Amino acid sequence: MDNNKNWIDQRFPLSKVWNEHLAEYYTPRTFNFWYFFGSLAMLVLVMQIVTGIFLTMHFKPDETNAFASVEYIMRDVNWGWLMRYMHSTGASAFFIVIYLHMYRALLYGSYKAPRELIWILGMALYIALMAEAFMGYVLPWGQMSYWGAQVIISLFGSVPFIGTDLLIWILGDYAVGDPALNRFFSLHVIALPLILVVLVFLHIVALHTVGSNNPDGIEIKKNKDKNGIPKDGIPFHPYYSVKDIVGVVVFLMIFSAVVFFSPALNGYFLEQANFVEANPLKTPDHIAPLWYLTPFYSVLRAVPPMFGSQFPGVVVMFSALLILIALPWLDRSKVNSIRYRSWPYKVALGIFVVSFIVLGWLGMQPVTPVYVFLAKFFTIAYFAFFILMPWFSTIGKTKPVPQRLTE
Ligand code: HEM
Repeated sequence: MDNNKNWIDQRFPLSKVWNEHLAEYYTPRTFNFWYFFGSLAMLVLVMQIVTGIFLTMHFKPDETNAFASVEYIMRDVNWGWLMRYMHSTGASAFFIVIYLHMYRALLYGSYKAPRELIWILGMALYIALMAEAFMGYVLPWGQMSYWGAQVIISLFGSVPFIGTDLLIWILGDYAVGDPALNRFFSLHVIALPLILVVLVFLHIVALHTVGSNNPDGIEIKKNKDKNGIPKDGIPFHPYYSVKDIVGVVVFLMIFSAVVFFSPALNGYFLEQANFVEANPLKTPDHIAPLWYLTPFYSVLRAVPPMFGSQFPGVVVMFSALLILIALPWLDRSKVNSIRYRSWPYKVALGIFVVSFIVLGWLGMQPVTPVYVFLAKFFTIAYFAFFILMPWFSTIGKTKPVPQRLTE
């Protein structure tokens, strides 16, 4: 055995992992703004886990004490307010980062072969994250925690034949109450974070197997020098480890501004109704989930009940989410990046983004005939993006794709 190898390397592949995944891991040299968000998502995940550990030390997961224990954290526990506001702001920050991260994949066709598994694992992360955020929001046992949970969980009751039994099984009771709070606590604090961490690990393993895409959407591995190093590649460390720090600093500046000056962000990050303790006898005037779930809530509300059942809406809502998984196979374009795509694709992507944002906005509004009409219209536009993609991704004139990365 090599005598120069240090003690750890003889027992654990530290240098090997460091080199393979950082110092000699070659990444496209043209990463731009859109490539900050993967590392930021990892940062936010760690921040949520650390602040969550401190909150768990003082939180009481039972229906008589939960709300008061959060107030206690806010007023009496040293730095408790900071832990809580970092955690609540972190939830919204997570989704901002993830939506930008996903949009980058749409811009550059990063979900396309050979990166389908990175995308599928990403979708699993997105769904797990939604479940994590939903259950976390129930814990402080405010009015919106309670009634939001009531509305969303009652949807499971609309499943034909097994609905009622399913609902009681999920709740452990006939309504949202202590058993639901207990199990949501356990899922939120241990099960889902564990799943998230494992999925992130697999996401990165898949990424490092095929390598990153880039703003040109071309494979740098197809153009190697005589040493087998991609001509357009640079080692991840120190080039991108340093670049990512810039992203982290800017992110933390914006994040701190929200945490310290406007943690509720006018009801967008913490709804006003959630500063009032849950009251099963008093329904709030207007029940809406937080902004990151509202596009799908809008889709749910756009579908009218059939034979008195909300089940069709539930199916359409879950389809709106799950259809994203099929993207790698729906996109038939020869080119990956938006830079070389045909104009029909660019128009379709624009309509899709507008639809998603408008649906998100509508999901926060009260139900009126005009808003319901708009929700229907944009739900159709949303699905059209996916259903028509095999067609519009092949028509129109694409631009010639260069051999090497462009600035
Ligand atoms: C906790 C959540 C997530 C974490 C920590 C995470 C982390 C990362 C990191 C560090 C990278 C490499 C750096 C970068 O390209 O920005 C990456 C790449 C990627 N991620 Fe994620 N990700 C998460 C969620 C998602 C989601 C929800 C999707 C999509 C549904 C997704 C799709 C992708 C794709 C397609 C790539 C390759 C991009 C390219 O090479 O152009 N990720 N992810």
